[in-house]
Amino acid sequence: MRKTALITGASSGLGKEFAKQLAEKDYNLVLVARRENLLKDLARKFSQVKVHVFAIDLTAQNAVEDLVKYLSDQKLSIHVLINNAGFGDYARFDEADIGKLQNMIDLNVKVLTGLMYYISQQMIRRQSGYILNVASTAAFQPGPMMATYFATKHYVLALSEAVAHEWKAKGVKVCALCPGPTATEFFNQADMNNSTMMKSIKLPSAEEVSRFGLDNLFKGKTVAVHGFLNRFLVFIGRLAPRNTITALTAKALKK
Ligand SMILES: NC(=O)c1ccc[n+]([C@@H]2O[C@H](COP(=O)([O-])OP(=O)(O)OC[C@H]3O[C@@H](n4cnc5c(N)ncnc54)[C@H](OP(=O)(O)O)[C@@H]3O)[C@@H](O)[C@H]2O)c1
Repeated sequence: MRKTALITGASSGLGKEFAKQLAEKDYNLVLVARRENLLKDLARKFSQVKVHVFAIDLTAQNAVEDLVKYLSDQKLSIHVLINNAGFGDYARFDEADIGKLQNMIDLNVKVLTGLMYYISQQMIRRQSGYILNVASTAAFQPGPMMATYFATKHYVLALSEAVAHEWKAKGVKVCALCPGPTATEFFNQADMNNSTMMKSIKLPSAEEVSRFGLDNLFKGKTVAVHGFLNRFLVFIGRLAPRNTITALTAKALKK
């Protein structure tokens, strides 16, 4: 029987690519995001697999529980969870919009944790399943001007590594995908197209990064950092003093 993958943030960027690639791998899909028209447009492209569209603001009260109830009502059991929905914000901490920061923590941390918790229950009982949590290279160092975003991604990485260890013998794989800057809507959403970093680098495509993420997930890798340069920077970051790394990141992120 065909298995089912659930992808959050499937309306654009990495999430849309995860959906396309999982459909190519013959998974039925549950597509989740707020923009229902984009999810429906995407769903129409996949005639070979069954697609469920669940349009919701995942940060709304009880949204995670509503999604889990929908899965149960539809008798859907999820074999692959792609915890991808997330966003950033580019501003000095005291000048940021506190509502936006709290909403970001809700989506990047609370919703990701809730979905992983509820959806893994069945996986653990079945002793099989795959969970890809989309972290970032931001998970490895503090990020002045994006302090809260970087901190949320530290959380995603630490959660994924710890739970992957807990489930070593359970048949359920957890992988933290850590992309560097990637060509998606992310930078418009975070209002950071003017940063030094964005002006100075050529970005890999969402297609390339999501393929890398799925390959590593299905190979059973726990942490997948995309790109040679990013892996090198993560390595160097472990050796250099923390305040040096923070200062260098501040330089890359400045306007
Ligand atoms: N692009 C990068 O450089 C980069 C680098 C490292 C990590 N990442 C991470 O990659 C993940 C995907 O981002 P992306 O780069 O593909 O950016 P994106 O194109 O902006 O995609 C974000 C997705 O999240 C969904 N989303 C946002 N808020 C939501 C909410 N409240 N409820 C439900 N869905 C919501 C959006 O859909 P709707 O607007 O339709 O709700 C969209 O589908 C994020 O976790 C991001 O932190 C990105």
